[in-house]
Amino acid sequence: MPSVALFVRLAALVAVAVAVPNNGTVSRTETAKRATCTVNSVASAANLSGCTSVVINAFTVPSGQTVTIAAASGASVVMTGDITFAKTTAAGPLITFNTPNIVFNGGDHRINGNGAMYWDGQGTNGGVTKPHPFVKFKGFGTFEDVTVLNSPAQAISVGTTGGKAIIQGVTVDNSAGDAGALGHNTDGFDISASDVTVSKCVVKNQDDCVAINSGSTIVIEDSTCSGGHGISIGSIATGKTVSGVTIARNTVTNSVYGLRIKVDADATGASVSNVKYEANNVSGISKYGVLISQSYPDDDGTPGTGAPISAISFTGGTTNVAVTGSAHTLVVDCGACSGTWDFSDLHATGGAGHIIAANKATISGGTY
Ligand SMILES: *[C@@H]1O[C@H](CO)[C@@H](O)[C@H](O)[C@H]1NC(C)=O
Ligand SMILES: *[C@@H]1O[C@H](CO)[C@@H](O)[C@H](O)[C@H]1NC(C)=O
Ligand SMILES: *[C@@H]1O[C@H](CO)[C@@H](O)[C@H](O)[C@H]1NC(C)=O
Repeated sequence: MPSVALFVRLAALVAVAVAVPNNGTVSRTETAKRATCTVNSVASAANLSGCTSVVINAFTVPSGQTVTIAAASGASVVMTGDITFAKTTAAGPLITFNTPNIVFNGGDHRINGNGAMYWDGQGTNGGVTKPHPFVKFKGFGTFEDVTVLNSPAQAISVGTTGGKAIIQGVTVDNSAGDAGALGHNTDGFDISASDVTVSKCVVKNQDDCVAINSGSTIVIEDSTCSGGHGISIGSIATGKTVSGVTIARNTVTNSVYGLRIKVDADATGASVSNVKYEANNVSGISKYGVLISQSYPDDDGTPGTGAPISAISFTGGTTNVAVTGSAHTLVVDCGACSGTWDFSDLHATGGAGHIIAANKATISGGTY
């Protein structure tokens, strides 16, 4: 990336030098300013289209305003301090990264939504109006090493297009919302995109750690989830398709659900296929260790038939699932499922055991 940035800058200087040889000084300064841009306010982020390098210093976003980081293709974007949001009347997303082929590194600084100023236990179902999502990743590229702190409701929406997105070392910390059960609908990552890898991320929240709503070629790996609703595919709504997902080497603790596929009971023209679970550790689960259901919003109700599920596997390393109390190890609640599902690397223990209604699917192997 530095070499690309340098090339762009040199090319601009050469063009200026050739076109206006007698006015080079002013233009050269101008060009240099545009190539490396500093963001320290909402206004300074207004037009980053000529910036191949963006440095974000600490600043506060006032009520009613939002920020978009739309820099030049291939830009490097780094943070040197926190971005803090005042309690706002603006609708989400409050900050959008929309740069093609971005190389974003948050330097372990925070994007702080001050969620406690909104949290009332009702999330986006009622009560105080909460901007959501808080953060949006558009464009594509790498998004690394940032903490998204205390989102009012849903934290990060992934809607990348145009290329592969790698989200690595990102923390969503809404653990403060555990107090008084005030944090609600605080999803970590909501993904509606293809070619996305979430790696080495940490989510502490009160809802889905990851929810994959649509897309293909998605990897969730080496990440840790606690306090919420585990790693989910869905909920799958009418017209939505998820295929080609690998969920590997993640740890889910102290959560209501561990690993879940949830399809809306009334969904049509939708499907879930080709989902591999490999070597995950799931423990401290209060309701369902593994839940594969076509009866959402019910957990285990009357399943719909308009959104088939196929090719689900637990292979490639043991997935350990430990549930507590009256929780179930594995529940499959299918109205339209098919194929042979190899569950030979699922090892689930505790609680009230399993309930399997797999429709036309055959589950082979595993202990649960
Ligand atoms: C140099 O260019 C700038 C902006 O393009 C212009 O405002 C300024 O008058 C020019 N100076 C000279 C000496 O031509
Ligand atoms: C944004 O900046 C670019 C390059 O720096 C410039 O060409 C363009 O005119 C600016 N757009 C607006 C709307 O100011
Ligand atoms: C899961 O637990 C096993 C046994 O304790 C351990 O060897 C493995 O590294 C753990 N996997 C993860 C992803 O933490």
